[in-house]
Amino acid sequence: MEIENLSFPEAVEFLARRVGMQVPEEDNDFESKKRSRMLALNKDAARFFYEQLSSPGGAPAREYMQKRRIGPTTAKNFGLGYAPDDWRSLEKAMTAKGYSREELHSAGLVRIKNGSCYDTFRNRLMFPVIDVRGNVIGFSGRILGDGEPKYMNSPETLVFNKSRNLFALNLAKKSKSGYIILSEGNIDVVSMHQAGFDSAVASLGTSLTPEQARLLSRFTNQVIIAYDNDGAGKKAAQRAIGILEKLDLKVKVLALTGAKDPDEYIKTRGPDAFRNLLEGSENQLDYRLRSVVEKYDLGQDAQKVDFLKEATDLVARLPSAPEREVYAMRVATLAGIPADAVISEVRQRRKRLLSKANRDTERQQTRPGRASAPAGRPRYDDEASARAEEGIIRVLLLDPALARDSTLPPPEAFTAPPLAHIYRSVLDRLRQGGEVTTATLGAALSSEEMSLLIRLQDEPLAAANSERALKDYIQKLYECKESKQVPGSPEDLLTLQRKLRERKGYEEA
Ligand code: CTP
Ligand code: MN
Repeated sequence: MEIENLSFPEAVEFLARRVGMQVPEEDNDFESKKRSRMLALNKDAARFFYEQLSSPGGAPAREYMQKRRIGPTTAKNFGLGYAPDDWRSLEKAMTAKGYSREELHSAGLVRIKNGSCYDTFRNRLMFPVIDVRGNVIGFSGRILGDGEPKYMNSPETLVFNKSRNLFALNLAKKSKSGYIILSEGNIDVVSMHQAGFDSAVASLGTSLTPEQARLLSRFTNQVIIAYDNDGAGKKAAQRAIGILEKLDLKVKVLALTGAKDPDEYIKTRGPDAFRNLLEGSENQLDYRLRSVVEKYDLGQDAQKVDFLKEATDLVARLPSAPEREVYAMRVATLAGIPADAVISEVRQRRKRLLSKANRDTERQQTRPGRASAPAGRPRYDDEASARAEEGIIRVLLLDPALARDSTLPPPEAFTAPPLAHIYRSVLDRLRQGGEVTTATLGAALSSEEMSLLIRLQDEPLAAANSERALKDYIQKLYECKESKQVPGSPEDLLTLQRKLRERKGYEEA
C-alpha cells in the first residue's frame, strides 16, 4: 500500500495482476464498485467544469485567467474548468447522467443542508486533482479574485486522500528535468508549467507529509523546494527538508528574492531568471547558513560574535575538508572578517567536536553496563553488545563492499532483535548485489526498525578506516558474548574456535 500509494483493495488487485491471478469477485465487489463509480463521477464532473469554461457563462473565469496570465493551452493541459455561479448546475448535469444525489454527496460535489442540496463549488476556477494513474480524485476551486474562502477543496472521500497525493504529479512525473519542484500553491504550479518548468507539483493545501515524500521518491531523487517567500514558507521548508532527507532525496531550496512566490517571481523576473535560480539553487547548507545569517544583525559586534559561533559550528560538522574551507570563507565574507580567522576557528571547533565524539564512544565502551541510552534510542537488554551491533550495521551502510567480509557474524549472534532483523535485511540486500537505501529496505522493515535505521545512518563512525572499525565492532560483539557465558557451554566453544581462527589469520598476515 505504501510503496505504490494504493488503498488496500487496490494493492490486492495490483499484486494479483502482477502474478497473473484474479481477485475473486465477491471480495472486491462492493467497495471497488463504489470507488470506480466515484471516479467516473469525478471525471464527468471535471468534463462538465471544463466545458463551462469555454461556454458563454464561463466569461468571468476566462477574465480571471487572463488577469493571472493563464493561457488556453495550459488550461487544457491541467483540465482547468469553471464551476458556474449557480446552486444546482452540477447537480442537474450529473443526475441527468444517472448519478444519484447520494453519490454526488459522498464525492463531496454537493452539500446537503436542512434537507436541501446545493453544489459545493460555485463561481470558482476549478483545478481537478489527478493522481499518477490518471484518475480525477478531487477538486480544488479558487475564488475569482479576492474573497473568502480563497480555495474550496473536495473533502476526504473514498478516492481522495490529501496526505497521499500531490497536485500535478500526473504531469510532473513525465518531466525529463531530473528533479521535482515542490511548491505550495496551485497557481504557482500552473504558472511554472506554463513557463516551461514541467516538473512542478504542490501539496494539497497542507504541509508536506511523509507519504507525499515517499510518493515523490518514486519519481525522482532530487526535490527543489519553491515555497512562498514568507515566514510560514520558510518554516515549512525546514520541515520538508527533514522529511525528504530521511528518504535519501537530494534537497535544494530556492531563494525567491524580491517576490512572494514562484508565480510572482516568474511574472516579474521572467522564466530565464527562474531557471538560473533553479540551476544555482542552494543546497541545504547554503540554506541553513542563510537562516543563521538572517537571525543576527551583523552590524552589531555582539551579534556578529554569536553569528560566528553558530556558523562555524555548522561548518565544522561538514565531513569534507575542502567543503569546510569553502564555507569558512563564505562565513568570513558574510561577517566581514579575514578568512584565516574563520578557518582556524573551524579547525578548533572540529577538533573539539571530534574529541567529544571519541570520549563519548570510549565512555560507552568502557562502561557498558552503566551506559545510558541517549534520547531517541531504544533501550537494549545488552547495551554494550547492541552498540557493537549498531556499529556493524553502520559500517556496512557506509562501505557496502564489506558485506563480503568472511568474519561477519551471523545475524543470530546479535542480541537486539530489531538490530538482528535490520542486519539480516541489509546483508541479504547487499549480497544480492542490491543497493541499500531506506527506500529499498522499506518493505522488509517495520516502521520502528526503519526509524532506527535512519538514525543509524546519521551517526558518525568512531574510526576513520571502515575495515578497522568493522573489526573492532565484531571483536566487541564477541567479547560481550564471552563475558556473559558460563565456561564450557557450546556457545563458549564457538567463540573460542573463532578466536583461534582469528589469531591464525593474524599470524598468517
Ligand atoms: N489553500 C487552501 N485553502 C485556502 C487557501 C489555500 O486549500 N483557503 C491551499 C491551496 O491548495 C493553495 C495553497 O493552499 O493553492 C496555497 O495557498 P495560496 O498561496 O494562498 O494560493 P495560490 O494557489 O498560490 O494562489 P494565489 O497565487 O492567487 O495567491
Ligand atoms: Mn501562493
